[in-house]
Amino acid sequence: MIDQETIDKIFDAIDIVEVVGEFVNLKRAGTNFKGLSPFHDEKTPSFVVSPSKGIYKDFSSGKGGNAVGFLMEHEKFSYPEALKYLASKYNIEIKEDKEVSAEEIQKRNTRESLLIVSEFAGKYFNNNLFHHAEGKSVGYSYFKERGFNDETINRFQLGYCPDGRDVFTSYALDNGYKLEYLVSTGLTIDKESYRFDRFSGRVMFPIHGLSGKILGFGGRTLKADKKVAKYLNSPESEIYHKSNILYGLYSAKNSIIKHERCFLVEGYTDVLSMFQRGIENVVASSGTALTKEQIKLIKRFTKNITVIYDGDAAGIKASLRGIDLILEEGLNVKVVLLPDGEDPDSFAKSHTADELINYVDNNQSDFIQFKTKLLLKDSEGDPVKRAQMINDILKSVSYIPDAIVRSVYIKECSSMLDIGEQSLYTQLNKLLLNKTGEQHRQNKYQRYEQQRKQPNIEKVPATETKQDRLEKEIISLLFKFGQIIFEEYKDEDGNDVAISVADFIVSELEEDDIDFGNDAYKYILNEYRANMTIGKEEIEKLFVNHNIKAVQSIAADLYTSKYELSNIWTKKDSFIETEEDKLKDIVPQTVLAYKTYIVMEAIKDTRTGIIEAQNENNYEKIIELSEQIIVLNNIKQRLTEGRGKIAILR
Ligand code: CTP
Ligand code: MN
Repeated sequence: MIDQETIDKIFDAIDIVEVVGEFVNLKRAGTNFKGLSPFHDEKTPSFVVSPSKGIYKDFSSGKGGNAVGFLMEHEKFSYPEALKYLASKYNIEIKEDKEVSAEEIQKRNTRESLLIVSEFAGKYFNNNLFHHAEGKSVGYSYFKERGFNDETINRFQLGYCPDGRDVFTSYALDNGYKLEYLVSTGLTIDKESYRFDRFSGRVMFPIHGLSGKILGFGGRTLKADKKVAKYLNSPESEIYHKSNILYGLYSAKNSIIKHERCFLVEGYTDVLSMFQRGIENVVASSGTALTKEQIKLIKRFTKNITVIYDGDAAGIKASLRGIDLILEEGLNVKVVLLPDGEDPDSFAKSHTADELINYVDNNQSDFIQFKTKLLLKDSEGDPVKRAQMINDILKSVSYIPDAIVRSVYIKECSSMLDIGEQSLYTQLNKLLLNKTGEQHRQNKYQRYEQQRKQPNIEKVPATETKQDRLEKEIISLLFKFGQIIFEEYKDEDGNDVAISVADFIVSELEEDDIDFGNDAYKYILNEYRANMTIGKEEIEKLFVNHNIKAVQSIAADLYTSKYELSNIWTKKDSFIETEEDKLKDIVPQTVLAYKTYIVMEAIKDTRTGIIEAQNENNYEKIIELSEQIIVLNNIKQRLTEGRGKIAILR
């Protein structure tokens, strides 16, 4: 426990603008400060901080409170964690038991434990570079060879994990860290008879969260062997979600605010080299395709993103989808391609900061120029390809939420491609209409979420449609077999991935944007989704004791009845051995049957729609629906072949 005196000191030291300002870009507005809500996606700032009152208020989500409350809300800190964070920010010594005992570690919640283990590992790896024979001769010399100085090494807490089976793991266990957490962070891989360090013999790049805590690691091999993955990364865990993390953001955020621009590069070393050159507003997507969450992280600090990629074809391809995502978030994006054979790392090493910035400013193009340049080559003299290119560019424009910004780009597009603005607008409007459909789908999803919170299920439906039955079947599979692993493989990073029946079903449904039609099953599915990690027994308890009567009775029914797909049960003796094999058939088949049913229904509805449209002589509608039928038939075809996905259902 932290003593009261320390707590008082912390509260005296707090400057709420400073605390919140670490996470939100705040601008003065009279006596208060304003910024974009970090809790809610918004375009006009509704997040207010009052330095005189020491509180924040987020009008978009209704959240509000003091600095400690903000940290708990935003960083998901516990109360003591928030206090400790503030104490270290304001250099206040905390009076508390110094050494963290093994028992104490046990007591803290998992998340906290994972953070502690990661912090310990980070310190250990970093320390090796300076005080461990192999760490010095192998790890440290590697970083030196790559031109990184001690300041950079320490700023980013780079490190080295000794070669060998479990040097790190043994050391951590000796120091009282529990195997459980070493395994959940992915630092240790624990097989029945064999336990080893994930990162052995690799140089280490810790990945920090926004508050500077280590959430995961990237480890680079020093072997030239092509068969060894160059980088290994931490697996997904309670604290590490790779789609939600940008490498370097913690070190970059102040500089991003100051320069009102964020450079986005691909790799760890790109960030390090640019940073060492003095260009600090740089982050990396770490080799994965840029995600919406990552863009939202940047958006907290600036509206301007400059993507710097090496000029090879793969780099360019990767950047295209990312550009649309950035536009969709309402941000400005520029793209810079480096000279052939260069990446930001090499370029920063051979140029000064000024040269680099000059190069960027002189060579950056907005996405229209970029796409045009890129696609013009392919489409020369080919009118069909040219039309495709124009459509492609307009599609990007359609992602921009602000109509005025769109019109600026239409002007540019018109002059670059020498096409009248009017025809560009006609085409753009079509795309925007499609997007409205998309919007509609999203709203629907939000409605479902809402329903999950305030369900309106009075009783079990009296009559059962075929769709009801299929939905019930899927729910039944989730209840009975949800936690059974039925697929295991290694992902690109060499991590072991285990797919449970529930993972499979939920992701299949999510992928195709399918929500159940029956309110009760829909509710159960969503509730199940939200509780997937809690374990079989707990899930059963949750539903069987549910406070909604209808849910309770469905659960009681399904949990007690024998599973109907009786081929599982027919060969009684062989059940144990073949259960997983059977599930491998039954689960995908059931999902497939359900999807097929939905497509068939959609086809039926569309046919009816066409007849109605014919009666109304609504030709546009007829054409539109006929096209839809073609799409649906294609999907049906693919589903029949057994590997299809329902992509464009609604
Ligand atoms: N990456 C990864 N796994 C791999 C390869 C790459 O996670 N097997 C990610 C890393 O974050 C890496 C980034 O993709 O930093 C870019 O990859 P690459 O350009 O190959 O690596 P560099 O960062 O340039 O590393 P180096 O210069 O050391 O070769
Ligand atoms: Mn490189």
